[in-house]
Amino acid sequence: MTAAPSPSASPVADPARTARFPFVPGAGTPPLPIARTEGSWLVLADGRRVLDAAGGALVTNVGHGRREVVDAMARALARTDYVVPPFATDERVRLVERLVDRWLPAGLTRVTLTSGGSESVDAALRLARQHHVAAGRPTRWKVIGRELSYHGTTLASLAAGGHPKRRRGLEPLLGDWPKAPACDCLRCPLGLVPVRCDVACADAVEERILAEGPETVAAVIAEPIVGSTAGALVPPDAYWPRLAEVCRRHGVLLIADEVMTGFGRTGRPFAVQHWDVTPDILVGGKGLAGGYAPMGGVFASEEVVAPLAARGEELMFYTFGAHPAACAAAEAVLEILERERLVERAAAVGAVLLEKLRAALGEHPHVAEVRGKGLMIGIELVRDRATGEAFPAAAGFTGRVVAAGLGRGVFVYPASAGIGRDAILLGPPFTITDDEIDLLVATLPAAIDDAARGLA
Ligand SMILES: Cc1ncc(COP(=O)(O)O)c(C=O)c1O
Repeated sequence: MTAAPSPSASPVADPARTARFPFVPGAGTPPLPIARTEGSWLVLADGRRVLDAAGGALVTNVGHGRREVVDAMARALARTDYVVPPFATDERVRLVERLVDRWLPAGLTRVTLTSGGSESVDAALRLARQHHVAAGRPTRWKVIGRELSYHGTTLASLAAGGHPKRRRGLEPLLGDWPKAPACDCLRCPLGLVPVRCDVACADAVEERILAEGPETVAAVIAEPIVGSTAGALVPPDAYWPRLAEVCRRHGVLLIADEVMTGFGRTGRPFAVQHWDVTPDILVGGKGLAGGYAPMGGVFASEEVVAPLAARGEELMFYTFGAHPAACAAAEAVLEILERERLVERAAAVGAVLLEKLRAALGEHPHVAEVRGKGLMIGIELVRDRATGEAFPAAAGFTGRVVAAGLGRGVFVYPASAGIGRDAILLGPPFTITDDEIDLLVATLPAAIDDAARGLA
């Protein structure tokens, strides 16, 4: 029998103990032993500090270690630990009011809450289908996604998405959901030149709808700015208005997946607001509770929900949806974002960061493009900047850059779909300081150099 570990010892300080927890031993990077988090920083078990330049997975927006969020959660739990989601709690009522009155785009007034992004996307897909069935259009069931996209890791959200690495081997379970081309100006899948193309990739979504038969299509789902598949692909300004018009013309619901872009990340409350588009259904997660609690949400118009309401039909809940502690966390996070004007800050600081990165990396031999909006910034990495040639997929260049960044004390997020195309994402807390920005900008070129050593 082994001796019980001392309760006072930090388990993450013991590599033998952390080595036991990965579900698949040896897959992926070894677990980083986190002792605590504060501000923009991860503090490791050995005392080293790592700048959280990705805000986790572009989640942390108000910064780590906000006592008032923790206190709000504790108060909520002390009052109500758990009730089945259809019941009303103070925390939930307050959060729904705040979302509808102060956050969601006008017209999105129905709110249901879940435990994360994938669950929310799944619920949005169910909602789209139920909407059409209830409205007497049972032939509409297909959901069109796009190549180079990620909507989550449940089977339905994987089926809607176009992330080859995360789908690999699961394809028979995912069916063959229709896909439209990505909106990807650096490597246009239609072989066109930006601006002169007149967003032909949005028209390609219409062609897909027509090819499927509009009477069979329930919805189109898209990320306003593509995140983890390709590293902040920002569409031309005409793209989303055209997409919305195409969907409207064919009676197809438009689902904006704002799990990554929502709640201020791109410098507006929601990324679709950069283009004055209101989708029929908007999906949120990550930043909604700023990382303090697992939480996601599906937000829809009255028109989307009305046919269900007319038939007295529910959208089935998840057991942990709208948990009181998560609602309290989200309310406190939104309150901080408002009070400290952090969405505006994300826009301003993001513009500065983008400019500094472009200055530092604009001529780097392994950087094809630095792009983004607000504090969602992608850096596309290549073997040869002059030709745009990518490193082979087997080189795992994205992973090498992430590891090199960690070695230099900065965490950045991998955004590669495993198809011989490399990118990293930056998504720091909106509270990141000027000094931290300078540290990030100074570290990245060196990390990319480290990763390329021995490969070029
Ligand atoms: C756009 C988008 N949708 C959905 C998801 C899935 O969210 P979760 O990992 O919380 O299930 C993600 C996660 O990265 C995402 O970026």
